Amino acid sequence: MASLGQNGAAMGLDEASVKPHERLGDWLADDMAAVNALIRDRMASEHAPRIPEVTAHLVEAGGKRLRPMLTLATARMCGYGGSHHVHLAATVEFIHTATLLHDDVVDESEKRRGRPTANLLWDNKSSVLVGDYLFARSFQLMVETGSLRVLDILSNASATIAEGEVLQLTAAQDLATDERIYLQVVRGKTAALFSAATEVGGVIAGAPEAQVAALRDFGDALGIAFQIADDLLDYGGTSAVIGKNTGDDFRERKVTLPVIKAVARADAAERAFWRRVIEKGDQRDGDLAEALAIMDRHGAMQAARADALDWSAKARTALQGLPDHPLRGMLDDLAAYVVARIA
Ligand code: IPE
Ligand code: IPE
Ligand code: MG
Ligand code: MG
Repeated sequence: MASLGQNGAAMGLDEASVKPHERLGDWLADDMAAVNALIRDRMASEHAPRIPEVTAHLVEAGGKRLRPMLTLATARMCGYGGSHHVHLAATVEFIHTATLLHDDVVDESEKRRGRPTANLLWDNKSSVLVGDYLFARSFQLMVETGSLRVLDILSNASATIAEGEVLQLTAAQDLATDERIYLQVVRGKTAALFSAATEVGGVIAGAPEAQVAALRDFGDALGIAFQIADDLLDYGGTSAVIGKNTGDDFRERKVTLPVIKAVARADAAERAFWRRVIEKGDQRDGDLAEALAIMDRHGAMQAARADALDWSAKARTALQGLPDHPLRGMLDDLAAYVVARIA
């Protein structure tokens, strides 16, 4: 187990160059090994070989395992000594995996975790049905903790994720989508699971209610910062680094935060451009570059980045209500890191 300082400044050079989620992974190595073993065990299906094929393709591609680490870290930070946090962490990663399978169908994405998506390699039907299976498996896992309260939190989060994805569907291609709706989408599709992951860690540990609330707020703000950053990377990132294709959101005519900010500042010609590419879906060669140039002209990316930084700061403030612990320092570094990758 690594023993690290509570903030970047206290760390040596080697430690500072290791990403916060990798340091969390080192600290939580035994717990994470148990989570991965449980995931492998529960993704099996005796009757339908397509299920482990599709799931293994995605699970074995890695993924940062951020959400299960949040559950493990928050439970440990709050002094938990039992083993149910492993079930909860696996539950959270199953829910995440299920939503990714569904999301790549909805978004018609072709690359995930550096690999072709399951919908591309198999088909949409397999992705939807295996996603359903994983959702059901996640519920079996959380029931094993015997806690109605964690069931309540995680089942609510599952409903909220689906709500966020559906709200996004109806907001896409609609230039009237404003920052309030965007926040609602992001809170639903992404922050709900981050916040459930951190909250159940505290709940299973029997943490005082004020700490459980702080954990919930931390996860919510971290999730929002994370998704704004992800939306920025869809325009400004590198496919090889993010393991997904860039430009997907533009092609799918999603009205994400940098677009909302650019549209709010658009002149008549720019409005006509946005109407053509987003509302009418008439996209031509060079349009993505033109969208980037317009965003640049109005500082839309920088403004969205500033919002992500604000949410990251909120997440870090929420952490102050939690016990002084090396894991708290790593969670603080993680909140800084999710926005540092877009700086
Ligand atoms: C991807 O999440 C989905 C979003 C909320 C943007 P991650 O970036 O955590 O995905 P993996 O698990 O590391 O692949
Ligand atoms: C992530 O949404 C999926 C969920 C949170 C359900 P996105 O569609 O924005 O993320 P990527 O870019 O495909 O990972
Ligand atoms: Mg997607
Ligand atoms: Mg999506």
